[in-house]
Amino acid sequence: MSIFCDWRANRGNPKGQLIMLLFRLAHAARALPSPWWLITAPYLAFYRVSVEWVLGTELRYKTRIGPRLRLFHAHALVVHEGTVIGADCTLRQSTTIGNKSPDGGCPILGDGVDVGANVVILGPVKIGDRAVIGAGSVVVKDVPAGAVVAGNPARIIRDGAEV
Ligand SMILES: CC(C)(COP(=O)(O)OP(=O)(O)OC[C@H]1O[C@@H](n2cnc3c(N)ncnc32)[C@H](O)[C@@H]1OP(=O)(O)O)[C@@H](O)C(=O)NCCC(=O)NCCS
Repeated sequence: MSIFCDWRANRGNPKGQLIMLLFRLAHAARALPSPWWLITAPYLAFYRVSVEWVLGTELRYKTRIGPRLRLFHAHALVVHEGTVIGADCTLRQSTTIGNKSPDGGCPILGDGVDVGANVVILGPVKIGDRAVIGAGSVVVKDVPAGAVVAGNPARIIRDGAEV
């Protein structure tokens, strides 16, 4: 079950463990049928207030996130709910992942993507498996699998063939 995988992936990082636990419960709760809403609605409200407002991590509970997401220094993190995050990814502080405009598409992160601190990833871009996004990058184009990118706009500093 994802909750236990997340717990292990964030070992030594109680804030990351707590956020992922609350996220997985909220993600499951939102899919329950209407008779459950008397229970789920207060929990989802609690999730928004505690995780998004108090802890400062806007990880919307509808977001599709694969197992073992690591959250390092999880504050000032904003992930649009249309974003898709694969398995074994890492997100760090002060990062925004979302659309370019309110009706635009959102990024799709493959498996094992490592996102540095203070990164912005915008629009319907695809970030390939095991890609590394350098700290402070602004990503507005697809990133190939295994590539290391950095800068604003992000450019490839090492391609997947070298990894
Ligand atoms: C992108 C990253 C993984 C590359 O690490 P690396 O493989 O050791 O790369 P190097 O240090 O050899 O740098 C290679 C080139 O990319 C540049 N570069 C590296 N990271 C960069 C970044 N974040 N932004 C812009 N340029 C960067 C270097 O200046 C160097 O340029 P040069 O060849 O012109 O001299 C790493 O720099 C990074 O940003 N990691 C994120 C870690 C993080 O967010 N930590 C937060 C902890 S709280």
